[in-house]
Amino acid sequence: MQTPFVLVIFGATGDLMRRKLLPALFRLYKQKELGESFYIVGFARRELNNEEFREFLGKKLHADGVWDKFSKNLYYQQGFFGDVKGYNALIEKLNEFDKRVGACIARIFYLATPPANYEEIIDKLVSTKLSEGCGQGSSKWTRIAIEKPFGKDLATAKAIDKRLGRVFEERQIFRVDHYLGKETVQNMIAFRFANGIFEPIWNRNFIDHVQITWAERQGIGERGSFFDGVGLLRDVAQNHIMQLIASVAMEQPLSFSKEGVRQARAAAIKAIRCIEPNEVSKYIVRGQYEGYNKEPEVDQNSTTETFVAIKLFVDTPRFENVPFYVRVGKKMPKDVVEISIVFIQTCHLLFKEYGCPEIGNVLTIRIQPDEGISLGVIAKKPGARLSLGTVSMYFSYQGEFGEKGAEPYEKLLLDIFSGDQMLFNRSDELESSWEFITKILEGWTLQGKSTVLSYKPGTWGPRQAHTLIEKDRRKWL
Ligand code: BG6
Repeated sequence: MQTPFVLVIFGATGDLMRRKLLPALFRLYKQKELGESFYIVGFARRELNNEEFREFLGKKLHADGVWDKFSKNLYYQQGFFGDVKGYNALIEKLNEFDKRVGACIARIFYLATPPANYEEIIDKLVSTKLSEGCGQGSSKWTRIAIEKPFGKDLATAKAIDKRLGRVFEERQIFRVDHYLGKETVQNMIAFRFANGIFEPIWNRNFIDHVQITWAERQGIGERGSFFDGVGLLRDVAQNHIMQLIASVAMEQPLSFSKEGVRQARAAAIKAIRCIEPNEVSKYIVRGQYEGYNKEPEVDQNSTTETFVAIKLFVDTPRFENVPFYVRVGKKMPKDVVEISIVFIQTCHLLFKEYGCPEIGNVLTIRIQPDEGISLGVIAKKPGARLSLGTVSMYFSYQGEFGEKGAEPYEKLLLDIFSGDQMLFNRSDELESSWEFITKILEGWTLQGKSTVLSYKPGTWGPRQAHTLIEKDRRKWL
């Protein structure tokens, strides 16, 4: 049973609230997961009262009958992030909720704002003593959740973390990467370590290479003002892709506990070999889709990347010299996120004269859509003559379980409410991933703007992204 809580969302009129947090909260409410007494307070700059805020959100949600009941738990506090006035008014609201419940209720502060606002919000939480809870030792129920991008490079990420660490204890801090909440990503640990048959072949002796594709059909849409200063490397690679790599590369956790899993993830990310700034052109291709400069709120001379392809290595005995090819892109031909483990082809040893299919054993973990796992195996095609082909064994979440599982934000919010940090970044995970990303950013600064290659919307990025893998005699799948 969920204990009473108040969730304060900073930046509550923004994209993240409307697209992810609110729908997740609403679904949790419908599933009766939020308990009897909960309060959700949106804090943002816009002049709205409670009713207007409810209406503003309800419209976006195409609300049904239950909405009216749920929305009674939504409140709004107008305020500027750097101005104490809004925070003082917030305190009054929170005290009022405590009175209604007759206890000091858990306070959760969710920062769904651009990172530039984190520092001032944390400062105000401290100066108004909001960070301490409502007194009587209640700070132990106070939590803070912080969205990505966590900083813009290693130095800023460290500074935010240091600032957080001075105010909150580690157990109070929830660094969100919603990919960790995806059903298919969570399943990686079960799949790899609960099935005895994969672990013995999950290494350099059997794996030729790994491919990760993260593709979105859409461009940056209405997010120009945010995206143009960030770019896809920081937006997606620094966090989601690092976690996908960790899910493939990590060693078996010592225990299925918060610390066991976070330790195994952190070690895998730390083992990703940094690409030094002067090597960037050898291992990385960056691109921008044609027409990006004409998107709303994008600088017309912008060289921000909307596509990146990277060849990298994970320096562990398990994956020594096994290349990982990663491509991330907006305005790609389709929406797909998948990991493919390509095993070493041995078919030609026996069947040289008959020819072997180009693609042999590939294990594909489909993160989304059509969540599932498939394994390509070589088989004899029916017929009098010997001919070989690749067939696929397929498991689909929808087919097997009749659903694709909980939405990541539902899982993550419940974990924040109950204080379970397993699916949240520990600070050293972030530090290692920022170290990797920051070196690339430094390399790009050295290279200058001319290395941002343009590509046609609806294609798989610049031609050079193909060359990156083809020069190793491999191909994107
Ligand atoms: C976000 C990125 O973290 O993830 C967006 O900022 C991206 O650019 C989104 O579109 C994708 O999330 P999902 O869950 O739809 O894969």
